[in-house]
Formats: sequence, C-alpha cells, structure tokens
Amino acid sequence: MTDESPDSLISGKEAKITIQQSKDAVALIRLAELIGLEDVTQWTTVNRMQQFLDTGQWIALIAMVQKPGKNTEPCGAIIAGFEEERRLWIELLVVAQDYRRKSVASALVTQLEEVGKEQGCRALFVDLDDDNNPAMQFYLGVGFQNAGIIREYYYDGTNAIILLKHL
Ligand SMILES: CC(C)(COP(=O)(O)OP(=O)(O)OC[C@H]1O[C@@H](n2cnc3c(N)ncnc32)[C@H](O)[C@@H]1OP(=O)(O)O)[C@@H](O)C(=O)NCCC(=O)NCCS
Repeated sequence: MTDESPDSLISGKEAKITIQQSKDAVALIRLAELIGLEDVTQWTTVNRMQQFLDTGQWIALIAMVQKPGKNTEPCGAIIAGFEEERRLWIELLVVAQDYRRKSVASALVTQLEEVGKEQGCRALFVDLDDDNNPAMQFYLGVGFQNAGIIREYYYDGTNAIILLKHL
C-alpha cells in the first residue's frame, strides 16, 4: 500500500482513525474484499483501477485505525472518480464490520468532499443497489439527496439509486 502523509485525524468511539491516500490498486482491492465487498473484481480490474489511480482520474482514501498498543491497520476505504461536468462519483465505500457505526464512513466522505472542492468539483454522486438500506440511510444522513433510479444498472441486472450532494 502506498502510504502518504495523514490528511486528517478524528476520534472514533474506541480508537484513533487517520485518513490517508493510496494509489495501490492491488492493496485496495484486497482490502475491499477482506472487509466486506466480495464482488469488486466483477466491476473493475486491478489494471483498470491502477491506471485510473496513476492518471489521477480516480482518488482512493483509506481509513487507518490505531488501537492502543497495537499496529495501525486499515478499516475502511473510499474510491471516487473525477467525471465530466465536474462530477465526483463514488465508486466504492466500505467499512470493516467491527468499525461500523463509529463515523469512519462519515470521515471518509468528509475528506473526499474536501478533495472534491479543492479540485473544483460541483457535486458528489453515488449509485447504490436499490435494496441497500443501510447505505441509503448513511448517505441521506450525510446530506445526499435522491436523484433517481436506473433499472438494470449493475452487471447482475439489479437496479441503482443515484444520490447526489452539491459541494
Ligand atoms: C454503509 C457503510 C459504508 C456505513 O459505514 P459506517 O462507518 O458504519 O457509517 P457511519 O458510522 O459514518 O454512519 C453515520 C450515520 O449513518 C447512518 N447509518 C450508518 N449505517 C447505518 C445502518 N446500517 N443503518 C441505519 N443507519 C446507518 C446513521 O445515521 C449513522 O449515525 P449513528 O451511528 O450515529 O446513528 C457501511 O455500513 C458499509 O461498509 N456497508 C457495506 C458496503 C456498502 O454498502 N457500501 C455503500 C455502497 S457505495
């Protein structure tokens, strides 16, 4: 994993979380699979992700957790792509089960918003499975609004809800 200098520090309910950028597609995919998204390689490949990270089309942030007396380890990640018309589109967001409901995803999205604003983006978008109620609750809670539904959007034929947040 490519560790760059920490961008922010928040206090989780049990441990300290730092957020840092990564450009290592292999490590990011391994992390996402390990902590909760088994189907990452169904919609992207290591080579494609690495190319987008190298060219700056995609940005990836990782949440690292530091428990007292233990090594730092990754507990969450967000990946987003810079699109036309100054949209920043979230491709992936996942937090390890043990660290859910501790504001890790909120911190990742907040940091991504800062990056988006710095890069002149006008809105953050995300698509999610229309039966993913926890994620829906999360995104609405951090200020996203429903922008519509696209039928059979995903490779497995499921529908997507599109959410957006103006920056
Ligand atoms: C969705 C997900 C990223 C949320 O991560 P998280 O770190 O637990 O989220 P946060 O702790 O920042 O949650 C902030 C708020 O969002 C809402 N929220 C988060 N998870 C929720 C859930 N499962 N049910 C209801 N509301 C939820 C709550 O209001 C929460 O605040 P609270 O804990 O004080 O009540 C996480 O559940 C996850 O990794 N899910 C699997 C992957 C996924 O579905 N990704 C999204 C698709 S892009």
